[in-house]
Amino acid sequence: MCRTQIGFVHDWVNAITFVGSNFQKGKMIKSRIQELKSEAQAFAITDPDSLEQFRLRFLAKKGELNELFKLFKEVPNEEKREVGQLINDLKGDLQTIFEEKQAQMESSEDGQSDVADPSLPGPNIPLGSRHPLSLVLNRMTEIFEKMGFSISEGPEIEDDWHNFSALNFPPNHPARDMQDTFFIEDEISLRTHTSSVQVRVMEREKVPIRTISPGRVYRNEAISARSNSFFHQIEGLYIDEGVSFADLKQTLFLFVQELFGPDTKVRFRPSYFPFTEPSAEMDIYLGTETEGDRRLTKGSGWLEILGCGMVDVNVLENCGIDSKKYSGFAFGMGIERIAMFRFGVKDLRTFFDNDKRFLEQFSGVNL
Ligand code: DAH
Repeated sequence: MCRTQIGFVHDWVNAITFVGSNFQKGKMIKSRIQELKSEAQAFAITDPDSLEQFRLRFLAKKGELNELFKLFKEVPNEEKREVGQLINDLKGDLQTIFEEKQAQMESSEDGQSDVADPSLPGPNIPLGSRHPLSLVLNRMTEIFEKMGFSISEGPEIEDDWHNFSALNFPPNHPARDMQDTFFIEDEISLRTHTSSVQVRVMEREKVPIRTISPGRVYRNEAISARSNSFFHQIEGLYIDEGVSFADLKQTLFLFVQELFGPDTKVRFRPSYFPFTEPSAEMDIYLGTETEGDRRLTKGSGWLEILGCGMVDVNVLENCGIDSKKYSGFAFGMGIERIAMFRFGVKDLRTFFDNDKRFLEQFSGVNL
């Protein structure tokens, strides 16, 4: 059957108009109201087109509702009240359906139905990426774990004993100025290095100790492309009977070969730290061929990557370890510095900007 909706309206209107008695007319209108109500409720309004179809069919000037009002005249007087009420109710229902659907469509941006279409492909959930510092840190811990090092942690808010005194920084000693400290109270500060965790481990664990302590540290420094008020370090500590400087060198040498490749050249330079004696700094050789390498190494080709040394006997004793029986080595390095070199990052601050365009570059990177 191929009829327009409007044509259909006139069919039943004619039918009622031609019915003989007024009584029958009243009855037919009532049943027609009922029918229209069910039809309106079942009408599939899924998009602006079908909404318009609904309006034309029921609410427009030539729609079903107006036809009902026209026929109302023919309803016998004693039924007018009842039928009038029914028509008004129907009008209310039709308008509610129309307005609700219209509002739904206006609120859904594309004007499409909010009825879910299960055949559409699911939303594309992008895969995140690891932070470059996590990538470097994970690789470093993996290397040390293979060498038998455990992982230990300590608090970022630290007392004077663990951050300074136990590490052989005497009170008022100028060595304390090596690191600009954020003080919270007199004797409490944000830790300036992860060496504080060494002390905690030595105090609570039995020798032999072989541990690394990664973590965030804080320094009151001017923020620039090369330094920030917080950064990350990894600390290493090995205490046992007969540990020597040769063990230290070999451990760090293996570490560097694993991280930067088997041909990496290193050198040790004598240095000073209050908590190690003797102390050294280790450099790796980058060369001076590229502009980046020259800048990073200040033209020398060598990049300093860590401080290290034999744990000072005072530190061992401070932590309750018999320095006549045991010896050990310690080392500490900055994670940002290594990540900058490894990934060619020129400005340390980009690690902390949370700029997705920067971070997304590390998606899928495996060190
Ligand atoms: N704590 C030192 C710093 O933050 C790094 C360091 C140097 C750690 C020598 C050590 C070490 O364990 O032996 O600059």
